[in-house]
Amino acid sequence: MKAKLIKTNHVINGKQIFAIELTNNQGTYVKIYNYGAIISDFVVVNAHGDKQDIVLGFDDFSGYINEDYLENYPYLGAVIGRYANRIKGGKFNIGDHTYQLSQAKGPDTLHGGDIGFDRKVWDILPTVDPSLTLQYVSPAGEEGFPGTLTVQLTFKLTEENELILDFRAETDEVTAVNLTHHSYFNLAPEGGNIRNHVHRMPASYYLQQDDNYVVTGVKIPVEGTMYDFLGPKAINKDWDRKTGYDQTFVLDKQYGELTLASETTEENGGLKLSIYTTEPVAHFYTAKFLSVKNGKKGRNYGSSDAFCVETQHHPNAVNIPEFPSTLLHPGEVYKQTTIYKVEHK
Ligand code: GLA
Repeated sequence: MKAKLIKTNHVINGKQIFAIELTNNQGTYVKIYNYGAIISDFVVVNAHGDKQDIVLGFDDFSGYINEDYLENYPYLGAVIGRYANRIKGGKFNIGDHTYQLSQAKGPDTLHGGDIGFDRKVWDILPTVDPSLTLQYVSPAGEEGFPGTLTVQLTFKLTEENELILDFRAETDEVTAVNLTHHSYFNLAPEGGNIRNHVHRMPASYYLQQDDNYVVTGVKIPVEGTMYDFLGPKAINKDWDRKTGYDQTFVLDKQYGELTLASETTEENGGLKLSIYTTEPVAHFYTAKFLSVKNGKKGRNYGSSDAFCVETQHHPNAVNIPEFPSTLLHPGEVYKQTTIYKVEHK
């Protein structure tokens, strides 16, 4: 893998924005910004020998800070933190202290609050081996979370066409952490609706949600429901076309094991995307709320024009003691590995 640093003409909060290009000898090219740790491009050679970009984003960095885009903001390709998905009532307790967070979605908190890690400028750390490490230090009290949290995200692109994301985080006070990456994938050469992509997820349960999409704590077997992706099936086979999927799936695994979260294939480009993770759940989102103008090549992105597999801990786990803990104590290291592997199907 080779890494190349390119200075953009953007400075945010006094910090220079860079694009970092990772390439391998298979013709794969990944572009990442040190703003939100955004993966803006993930170009692979498809089954016909053509270059194909499998993620949604913008041709130029200015797209990511455009007011129109931020208005109906979908977190295109960005890291999510401190806490992925929704937290009921935007609050949680540690001991007998209640922490009130910024409530970004009605009464609840979504994806870390008003301005999450997806809109922060990250530092680029020097690395010895060919990899990219971004660091963000989230001050105590940011969006209501206790403790100074130092987060590092290392990206590596292998010759096997795996983009490896290694997260680590440390805190100086007990806090809640649940990180993920919000790439929007589309494996069709011309993009468009992902309804015909064939998807599989080794998950025997999904998590019940309330009317505001907040996880309640109840696990429901997928068997006999539209959520059964145990065998490969077209995304639109059982879905409700208007809402698609915006659900959390509990992966069949031993806690902490690096296993397959999802496998998705598409006929025309002949590509297969496999996602592996150490995380216990994957939130599968078929982009119902997506509405972006002037994406790459001037394309508009609409509802169901992409899918996201957000590998993480159970949403709202900080309020549900039965779920694996999302609390991080001083002296402990939060770790997550997630791998996006692209092959010909
Ligand atoms: C997640 C959520 C969705 C939506 C998107 C961002 O996937 O579960 O409901 O908020 O992020 O638009």
